[in-house]
This record gives sequence, structure tokens and C-alpha cells, in this order.
Amino acid sequence: MPELHDRIEALDAQVLGELEGRSLFLTRDWSTSELMTLLDVADCFHELDRSQIATPLFENELFLSLFFDASTRTRSAWAGAAARLGARPLVLDGKSTQVSHGETAEETGAMLGMNAHALGVRHDLILGAGNRFMRDAHRGIADYLRAIGDSRVVPLVNLQCDVDHPTQTLADLAWLREKFGGDLKGKTITMSWAYSPSYAKPLSVAQGIITLMTRMGMHVRLAHPEGYELMPETLSDAERFTRESGGSFEVGHDMDAAFDGADIVYPKSWGPHDLMLERVAANERGDHAELAAIEARALDRNRSATDWICDERRMKSTADGSALYMHCLPADIGDEVTPTVMESARLDVAREANKKMYVIMSMLSVAKQPQLREVLLSLLDQR
Ligand code: CP
Repeated sequence: MPELHDRIEALDAQVLGELEGRSLFLTRDWSTSELMTLLDVADCFHELDRSQIATPLFENELFLSLFFDASTRTRSAWAGAAARLGARPLVLDGKSTQVSHGETAEETGAMLGMNAHALGVRHDLILGAGNRFMRDAHRGIADYLRAIGDSRVVPLVNLQCDVDHPTQTLADLAWLREKFGGDLKGKTITMSWAYSPSYAKPLSVAQGIITLMTRMGMHVRLAHPEGYELMPETLSDAERFTRESGGSFEVGHDMDAAFDGADIVYPKSWGPHDLMLERVAANERGDHAELAAIEARALDRNRSATDWICDERRMKSTADGSALYMHCLPADIGDEVTPTVMESARLDVAREANKKMYVIMSMLSVAKQPQLREVLLSLLDQR
């Protein structure tokens, strides 16, 4: 398989060296070349898997993940990645841990990290809480291992927090690189709010998209109704990355204008900003009645913008009437997107979703496997 051999050989050894031992909490923490190398490795894992070449780099290891919020795709991507790397996956429900009984994130990290060889966490619904939990848990693992003189690397993978959803947005980027042949410079992507009656969704996918795609020299349009602003630091990051990459970043409140001429559209819902902030205090008090009341108010607010739907008319207004439709899934079909648009994009969004497993394999391997390029070449040569 000379082509795959060349791809693996072309991996940037210097950048791979820099990534050893690293955890990815937010894409903005990593340089663009580090993210591109991560995706190059993910592409190699995808090709190896497609060619049925086993990659058991971490046999007899335990890859734990902790989900405080619901998940179908990311949970199974974690398990699929662990199995393909030869490790045993264990997916825990965060609500069944002792975290709500006073155990701190550092303690939880140390307790899970002492038994595991990698930790994934989803904690996405409370602004200011999820990413902090992940960093504290990772510190708990590192402090414990250092204290006992254990040199084991236990990376933490952000499986969606309040700020970012890196395994999702990097999977999205991997899919865009495949679809558009690598160079995304000059392409227009619309990240639009869309109506949802199901629940007040996290802000992190939209925030992750604007802070990642602005690094690619793309024209990034963010559109949402008034009151659905994203976290201010993610907007300033998007502006900074745009200046560095030579793309553009616009924020507007008109879904039609945002779709007009776009090459790629990513219409999905998130919760009203003020009510997402109100959740923080109610969560700290453990006031479940108040949290339920805030959720009802958020859905009521969403109902004032039911016309924010990705439909055939809006899709016709995109570039050549055929923009690539993207969604992290699950989509509220009939509310965020019409059944017809979703039906025509069904295979595309499945291929987009499938990239996440290879992104997780890549994150774990670049962090844990020294000489990764040589190890992958030897697996290929043994075939
Ligand atoms: N897109 C995504 O993260 O899906 P799940 O919530 O099902 O994991």
C-alpha cells in the first residue's frame, strides 16, 4: 500500500514529538500545525481501518470515559477508538459517580486516573463548569501520578464541554478536508442557529466551529436571533484567528442572508445566553426545580424563532444551490431542518459523524505513543 506508506511517512515527526503527553481541552490551545498533524494521523487511522490493518497500540489498557450528559455518537466513538487501539473501553455515567456528593474534580480525576490509561469527559450544559472540571480532573491525575513516581501518561480527552466540542469540530474539519480536497481557504461556511423544541442545547458546537474554521482562512458567518449570543471569548478568538489566517468572520441575525451563496451550512440550535447563565447559579445550589423552570423558559424563548429552519428554499440560495449540509447530530428533523433536506444529506452527515472515532484514536495515540510514525509504519509493513 505505497500511498498509505507515503502518508504515514509524511507525518511531521517534530510536531508529533511536541504532542507527546498532551491533552486537548480546547482547539484554541493547540497551534494550527499541531491540529493539522492530529488530523493527518486521524486520516492514517481511517485508511488503516478501511484496509483492515489492526492498530493494537495499547493492549491491556483501560480507556475510561465519564458522561455527565446524554450522548450516542461520542460514547460509541470512544468505545470504537479504544477497541481499535487494543484497549478496553469503559463508559461511565457521571451522574452515578460521587461528584454530586461532594467529590471534587481533582479527586475524581485521581481516582479514575490511577486505574485507567486514558480518560474522556463530557460535561457540557453548565457554562463555566465543564472545561474547568476537565482541567481540574486532569490535574488530579497528574498530581497523583507524580506523587507516586508513576511516569504513565493518562491524557484527558474533552468529549464536549461548555466552551468547545473538539472531537466533533475536528471530525467536521476532517470531513471538510476530505470533501473539498484539503484546501478550505476562501470557502464560506455558515454556522447558524436553528429552532429546536427538544432541549436548550449547549453552545459549544457553534463556539467550536467559529474558533476552528476561522483558522483555515475560511469566510465564517455566524447567524442567530438576538439573545442567542455565544461566549464573548469565543467571538474574540474567532476574530483573532481570522486576522491570522486571512479569512473573514461576520455575525448577523438574518438566516437568509447567512445562507446566501454559502458553500457549507451548519444550522443547529443552542440555548438563550441569559438563561444558560441563569443555570449556573441554580446548578451550584443543586436547585433542580429552578433548573427545570429555566429549561421551560428557554424552550418558550426558542418558540419565538420557529422560522429558523434549514429548508429547501434556503438551501437553493446557497452556492450553486447545493451547499454541503453539516450537523453534529442528533438533528431535530422538522424543526432545525426539513425532512427533505435531511434525507438528501443523510450519507454526508453519517460520514461526518464517523470521523470522530479516528480523531479520538489520533488524540490518544499522539499523546501516548512515542515514535508513532515508526510504529504505524511497522504495522503497515507487517501486513
Ligand atoms: N454530536 C454528538 O456529540 O453526538 P452525541 O451527543 O450523540 O455524542
